Amino acid sequence: MKKLLITGGSSYLGRHIVPIAQEAAYTYYSADPFAGGHQLDMRDGAAVTALVQQIAPDAIIHLAGSNRNADMANVIVAGCENVVQAAASVGAKVVFMSSDVIFDGTGAPYSEAAAPAPLHDYGRAKVRGEQIIASYSNHAIIRTSLIYSTRLMDRGTEWMQRAIAEQQPITLFTNQLRQPVHADDLSRACLALAKGAFTGVLNVAGREVVTRANFGRAILAHWGIPITETVTFAPDLSGRWPLDTRLDITLAQNVLSFPLRGVRDAITV
Ligand SMILES: NC(=O)c1ccc[n+]([C@@H]2O[C@H](COP(=O)([O-])OP(=O)(O)OC[C@H]3O[C@@H](n4cnc5c(N)ncnc54)[C@H](OP(=O)(O)O)[C@@H]3O)[C@@H](O)[C@H]2O)c1
Repeated sequence: MKKLLITGGSSYLGRHIVPIAQEAAYTYYSADPFAGGHQLDMRDGAAVTALVQQIAPDAIIHLAGSNRNADMANVIVAGCENVVQAAASVGAKVVFMSSDVIFDGTGAPYSEAAAPAPLHDYGRAKVRGEQIIASYSNHAIIRTSLIYSTRLMDRGTEWMQRAIAEQQPITLFTNQLRQPVHADDLSRACLALAKGAFTGVLNVAGREVVTRANFGRAILAHWGIPITETVTFAPDLSGRWPLDTRLDITLAQNVLSFPLRGVRDAITV
């Protein structure tokens, strides 16, 4: 059995992977959701190397560092540098979670060969992270879309739920196209790539393209949250976020032995 280390086991995605990654070691930064993790600051290179050498994993699934963290770019970029250095010292494979927002939304659908063109700081940090990870040959980079699950509410839905409860106005965009992925499917993909021979970039996203607005309708219905008059459906005209980040998942459907469910496959209300 391959020995795994998951960074960011406390992340939303990590809380789906850790329970199914039999006896994998995992890290957290501020809060351990399972009471068996290793506290680790990804910016601390010596600490990252010490933990990796202590565990000596065959593969590291690197999730820590998202758009919600303080010191975001540093956690992502220094985190990737430290993970690569530590992985090299024990010969571990690195599986890195990247994002569809490395693209500006003008060239969809994006294949694995598409050139990144990020619009914002998070996208730029993820691109830099990808470059660092790709400098280490034994790697897999997953590019994914919005992550949700039907068992544990995602943070985007928590935000909508809170705004609706507090009667704060929110807008769900009718012109942002995404391929939301169920966290269980993405977790299985991470484990398959950590254990398997695939190296390089792989788009892993749900097979259904939906607008943010329709995804909002579906996920709110799933959680039984009523759509009140404070919720507006309108196009995003800000230019701050990519509008169309559709990912071509043909390769993933060949590499993985299970379907990447779309929203209507996973959410039935
Ligand atoms: N959520 C999405 O829709 C989405 C879409 C595309 C890609 N992704 C990528 O998928 C991965 C998981 O995303 P997520 O939304 O599940 O993440 P998340 O819930 O926002 O969690 C972020 C993680 O980073 C950890 N962290 C923050 N600062 C840290 C530091 N200085 N050192 C070490 N760890 C630190 C947090 O630990 P504590 O919680 O313990 O502080 C937590 O485990 C990320 O790489 C993200 O960029 C997410």
